[in-house]
Amino acid sequence: MRAPRGNGVGIMLNRLLAALGFKPGIPGIESLDGKLRDVARRLVTGDVPDAWQPLSSSAQARVARGNWHGQDVVLKVFLPRGPLELLKSLFRGSRGVRAVRRGRDLEADGFHAPPVLAHGWDGTREILLMQAVAGESLLRLCSRRLGEPQLPLRQRRDRLREFGRFIGRLHEKQWVHGDLRLGNTLWNAGRQAFVLLDNESNQRSDKPEMQRANLVQLNMIAPQYLSRSDRLRVLTGYAAERRLDTRQRKAVTRQVAADTLERWQQRAARGGPRPRHWVGSSG
Ligand SMILES: Nc1ncnc2c1ncn2[C@@H]1O[C@H](COP(=O)(O)OP(=O)(O)OP(=O)(O)O)[C@@H](O)[C@H]1O
Ligand SMILES: [Mg+2]
Repeated sequence: MRAPRGNGVGIMLNRLLAALGFKPGIPGIESLDGKLRDVARRLVTGDVPDAWQPLSSSAQARVARGNWHGQDVVLKVFLPRGPLELLKSLFRGSRGVRAVRRGRDLEADGFHAPPVLAHGWDGTREILLMQAVAGESLLRLCSRRLGEPQLPLRQRRDRLREFGRFIGRLHEKQWVHGDLRLGNTLWNAGRQAFVLLDNESNQRSDKPEMQRANLVQLNMIAPQYLSRSDRLRVLTGYAAERRLDTRQRKAVTRQVAADTLERWQQRAARGGPRPRHWVGSSG
């Protein structure tokens, strides 16, 4: 799929900002070298170097796994979402910069995000080099979305309940993830830890409706990929962590189900799910 394009004026404006040197860097993070910038460019044109393995992502990014200075790494190129994205980022920080900041804030609160090794720009495209997390996504481990779940039944159930507890702890610390999905959560078995991806839109909030939105994001996976009882396992873990009594747990479950239905209807009215950039069977 081709990179999304904006309108002419927006593109000119973004180019002008980039030419003027508006390319925010991140203190303490190495600037991306020319070789990696070249890999990023080839990732966008679809001419990926053999040593790099492209991964599926949203349409607004290109992601590949490879090796850099002897480390397993993931390179992520943020494609501009719209013509004015760079201008907006003047005020609130670019997607990459926000991902790094929020990742660090999460770590400070005892959660995990992939460490960022280098950051840079190629024109209006922002690029992040991250450590590859040694682990698999919950989508692959626990759901049928990308084939048979990798974990055996018992472990799968335990992991989902644990994940519910994990979300409970996240919310207790007033973190709301911007895009909480099984595919954005990796399980590092060695460290026995969940690692959150796509942290750029995370917010600090203790509003129940924001927290519920996270549970709804998670619940949006189609029923054939994650059963009703598996969903309930996540909610059971969540309720235990948040010390919800039976009545409260049932109320949250009902509300999440109703909100999920509404989101499915909105999605259908919009013409289906957002386009993705698929690479083979990678999640
Ligand atoms: N640091 C990392 N370590 C291991 N795998 C990663 C890492 N970062 C990304 N991935 C893998 O690459 C995939 C796509 O990356 P990412 O989630 O950042 O892109 P995205 O555009 O947000 O796509 P999506 O819509 O799938 O969330 C992830 O689902 C995950 O499988
Ligand atoms: Mg993601």
